[in-house]
Amino acid sequence: MTKEKEIVVSGIRPTGNLHLGNYFGAIRNYIRMQEEFNCYFFVADWHSLTTHPDPKDLKGNVIRVLAENIASGLDPEKATLYAQSDVPEIAELYLLMNMLAYVGELEKVPTFKDKVRQQPQNVNAGLLTYPVLMSVDILIQRAVKVPVGKDQGQHLEMARNFAQRFNHRYGDLFPEPVAFNYGDNLIRIQSLDGKGKMSKSENEMATIYLNDSDEKIRQKLKKAKTDSGSGIPGEPMPESIQNLFELMKLVSTPDTIKSFEEAYNNQSIRYGDMKTQLGEDMVKFVAPIRDKAAELQRDTTYIEKIMKTGAEKARANAAQTLQQARKLIGLNYY
Ligand code: TYM
Repeated sequence: MTKEKEIVVSGIRPTGNLHLGNYFGAIRNYIRMQEEFNCYFFVADWHSLTTHPDPKDLKGNVIRVLAENIASGLDPEKATLYAQSDVPEIAELYLLMNMLAYVGELEKVPTFKDKVRQQPQNVNAGLLTYPVLMSVDILIQRAVKVPVGKDQGQHLEMARNFAQRFNHRYGDLFPEPVAFNYGDNLIRIQSLDGKGKMSKSENEMATIYLNDSDEKIRQKLKKAKTDSGSGIPGEPMPESIQNLFELMKLVSTPDTIKSFEEAYNNQSIRYGDMKTQLGEDMVKFVAPIRDKAAELQRDTTYIEKIMKTGAEKARANAAQTLQQARKLIGLNYY
C-alpha cells in the first residue's frame, strides 16, 4: 500500500504587496513542498478583515496574492490554491473551537498586544480570536506541517494547544501541526532600516516588494542602513551589515558573497559597492516574478478558475473533518 502524503497548510493575508519576507519565510518552502506533500495554500481574506479593508479593493488584493504565488513557482496542478472565505466549513469549526479558547490566553498573545498598540481605536474581537481562526485553517485540513516565517511560531504553538484540548475533551481528531522550514530555523527577514522585520504595510522604503520596479529596488538598497561598527578585528559584525550579508546569501552567487566577506574581514569593504551589487542581484531575482505576476493578474478568468477548483477540493477535505468534529461534540441529532 502506498503511504498517504502528509498534509501541509499555509496562508497569506491579502493586506498589501508581498515582499521578500513572505517569499523567503513562506513561499520558497511552498514551492519545494508542493513536490512531496499534499499542499493547501490559501489567501487569508477573513483574517485581513480585522483591519477593515475597503470592499472594492478586496478581490484585486486576493487575485494579486495568488498571482504572485504562482509567478514565484506555485503550480495549481500540484498544490490546492483557494481563498479562505470560499471554505465556509472553516467558519463553523472556528465557532466550535472558540468555546475551547480562553480570553486570558488570547489576550497574552504578542501579535494581539502589538495590534492593540498599533490600532487602539480598533481592538475588535476578531483580533483577539485571530489565533483561533488561524489554528482552524490548519486543523480543518488535518495538516501536520505549516511553512511559515518566525513571526508565526507562537500561533503554531497555539494551534497545537487547541488540537490537544479538543482531542482530550472529545476524542482524537486533530494531528498536532508544526511550523516548518527546510533549514533548521524559521526565517525572519529584517527591514532595510534596521527597525524590525520586513512587513507588508509598514516602512515602505525599508521593504522590498515583489512588484517593485528595478529602479525602486536599486534605490531602496542604496538607502539601506549600514553601521560601520568599531572596525576592531574580532568585534561582532553590526546588525545592519549582517542583514545585508543575509540578503546577499539569498540572491547572490557564492563567489560574490565570498568576495565581500573577504573584503569585510580585511577591512577593505566599501558598503556602497556592496549595496550596488546587492541591488543588481536583487533586481535579477525580483524582476521575473514581478513581470510574470503582472501578466497573470490581467488574466482574472484564469485565477478565478484556479480559486474555484481549489475551493472545491479544500471544502471536500474540510467537510470530512467538520463532520467528525460535530459528531464528537454530540451535535449529530438526526
Ligand atoms: P502574513 O500574511 O503576515 O505573512 C505570510 C507569510 O510570510 C511570512 N513572513 C515573514 N517571514 C520572514 N520574514 C518576514 N519579515 C516575514 N513577514 C511575513 C509569515 O510568517 C507567513 O508565513 N497569520 C498569517 C496568515 C495565516 C496563516 C494561517 C498562516 C492565516 N492562517 C494558517 C499559516 C497557516 C499571517 O498573517 O501571515
